[in-house]
Amino acid sequence: MTTDLQALERDLIARIEQANDEASLEALRVEALGKQGSISALMKGLGAMSPDERKTFGAALNVLKDKVTEAIVTKKAAHAEAALDRQLQAEAVDVTLPPVRPRLGTIHPVSQVMEELAAIFGEMGFSVEEGPDIETDFNNFTALNFPPNHPARETHDTFFLDAKGEDGARKVLRTHTSPVQVRTMLKQKPPIRMICMGRTFRKDSDATHTPMFHQIEGLVIDETTSMADLKSVLIAAIKAYFEVDDVRLRFRPHHFPFTEPSAEVDVGCDRSGGTIRIGAGNDWLEILGSGMVHPNVLKNCGIDPDKYQGYAFGMGIDRLAMLKYGMPDLRDFFAADTRWLKHYGFSPYLLPGLAQGIG
Ligand code: PHE
Repeated sequence: MTTDLQALERDLIARIEQANDEASLEALRVEALGKQGSISALMKGLGAMSPDERKTFGAALNVLKDKVTEAIVTKKAAHAEAALDRQLQAEAVDVTLPPVRPRLGTIHPVSQVMEELAAIFGEMGFSVEEGPDIETDFNNFTALNFPPNHPARETHDTFFLDAKGEDGARKVLRTHTSPVQVRTMLKQKPPIRMICMGRTFRKDSDATHTPMFHQIEGLVIDETTSMADLKSVLIAAIKAYFEVDDVRLRFRPHHFPFTEPSAEVDVGCDRSGGTIRIGAGNDWLEILGSGMVHPNVLKNCGIDPDKYQGYAFGMGIDRLAMLKYGMPDLRDFFAADTRWLKHYGFSPYLLPGLAQGIG
């Protein structure tokens, strides 16, 4: 009997050693230790033995069972380790190779400038609001204190749609981002401190005008806002955007229906040598419109003008991009020419922020 067991042990252990995959190991386990397995069959035979025989043979069987079990477990662990080694080999990374830049294309200058402006105004506590390109006459004109049928509506060279809004008037492609001010005031109580950026539309086309262009609008409403706050915010923003310390700004009286008083703002520049340089020279360039929000606008948007006052400003984003990055013709911005985009585009890996520099 004992010699039989030794032979069985030798056979099983040898075959376990040779089993080179998970499945054959499992087959061996079933063959030896499964319900119908060879060791299990011997266990069943114990009942028919004399107590003495049972004692010695039973003990020997248990030892055999333990040895076989252990051999299988050890072999399984060896398999797992070898598999891991193979995987590590296959996935080895050579850290000395130069990086491969995925082909992500470039960021369009307009998107880049929007990111820059969001970073600058975000740092000053402004939230970023959004509104649709198609607007009601009320949001684009009436709420902003444009009198009905007033010629001011025509100065915007508006694209009118056939569809009518709830106000009964034809919808428009928004001619400025100011309707987002209206939307924000209608849904949010003061204090309000927001910017919005996006597409705007006017019937216009030459080297510095395209029928679709982009604006940024800012609005602050609180109990004690003033023209001085407006000036300080604009000076800080323009300095940060153009990345020059000695920017001169000139506030010129102007008229907008939605602000009173209103000012157009010019930035000091140098035009000698055919290019415009911001921050130097003795010339001026108009870059934005601004003013204190007209009390009628506050009233139209459900805000008490006796308690609150505000200021607003609006600038052309494409214009800002042209001035900072030196693109001469606005029409190129929207021609989808990949050579232009490659030349003037920005790396998708560098997000503008005040900490690492804006542009
Ligand atoms: N909405 C004005 C325009 O497009 C710009 C502006 C905005 C002026 C806010 C004053 C205040 O011409």
